[in-house]
Amino acid sequence: MSIQLNAINCYYGTHQVLFNITLNYSTAETLVLLGPSGAGKSSLLRVFNLLEIPRSGQLKIAGHHFDFMQIPSKKSIRELRQNVGMVFQQYNLWPHLTVIQNLIEAPCLVLRLKKDTAIERANRLLQRLRLTNVSDRFPLHLSGGQQQRVAIARALMMEPQVLLFDEPTAALDPEIKAQIICIIQELAQTGITQVIVTHEMEVARKIASHVVYMENGHVVEQGGKTLFTRPSTTEFSNYLSH
Ligand SMILES: Nc1ncnc2c1ncn2[C@@H]1O[C@H](COP(=O)(O)OP(=O)(O)OP(=O)(O)O)[C@@H](O)[C@H]1O
Ligand SMILES: [Mg+2]
Repeated sequence: MSIQLNAINCYYGTHQVLFNITLNYSTAETLVLLGPSGAGKSSLLRVFNLLEIPRSGQLKIAGHHFDFMQIPSKKSIRELRQNVGMVFQQYNLWPHLTVIQNLIEAPCLVLRLKKDTAIERANRLLQRLRLTNVSDRFPLHLSGGQQQRVAIARALMMEPQVLLFDEPTAALDPEIKAQIICIIQELAQTGITQVIVTHEMEVARKIASHVVYMENGHVVEQGGKTLFTRPSTTEFSNYLSH
C-alpha cells in the first residue's frame, strides 16, 4: 500500500497555496515536510486527512481514493479520518474531560468500542507514553510535554494507518523534545506511516526516512534522507545552511 498525491492544487478563496503537488510514498515511512514559514507545509499536511479539500488532483491514502473533480462526501471524509489521524499543534484536548476520558471519547462514539475495551486500550497507550500517573487529571493541569503525549495517545486510540503531526516538538524543552522524538521513532517501528511538519532540523534529521522541501506552495525537492547531506537544489542547500 502507498500514499499518493497527484497534481494537487489547493486554494484559500482565490489565493492558491499548493501548486501541482505530486508525492508517492510506500507506507511505514516517516515523511518530513520542511520549508520556510508560509511555504504551505501545514496546508499540505491538512490535505492528507482532508481538513483542506484541494480544488483538483487525486489523493490515495490508507485504502481511500479521492479525485477532487468531485467534492468528497462527508461520509467518505469521516471514514478517511478513522485511518488518518492528526496530532494538532495546539493539542486540541477537550478541557472538560480527564486524560483517560479524552482518550476513550472518540473510539467509543465513532468506532463504537465498548467502554471496557476502550479503557484497556487507553491504559496500554498511557503506559507506553509514560502517562499512567496523569490518567485522571484534566489537560490544563498538565505540562506542555504531557499534553503533547496525551494528544499522541488520543490519536493512536483510533489505531490509524497514518499519523500526521504539525510541529510536534515546537515550544518543548530539550528533554521533552527528546521523548517525543523517541515516541516517533518507536511508532515508525510499528509500521505506521507518519507525516511530520517541523522547523527543527535536528528533529528532522533524527526521524525522517523521506524529506519534502517546499517553498511558496511548490515542492522544490524531495527524496530520501541522504538529501540532508547531499541536497540537489540551491534552495534546499541554502535552507540547510541557515
Ligand atoms: N485559513 C487560511 N486562510 C487563508 N490563507 C491561509 C490560511 N491558512 C494559511 N493561509 C496562507 O497559506 C499559505 C501557506 O500557509 P501554511 O500555514 O500552509 O504555511 P506553513 O508552511 O505551515 O507556515 P508556518 O511554518 O508558518 O506554519 C500562507 O501564505 C498563509 O498565509
Ligand atoms: Mg504551519
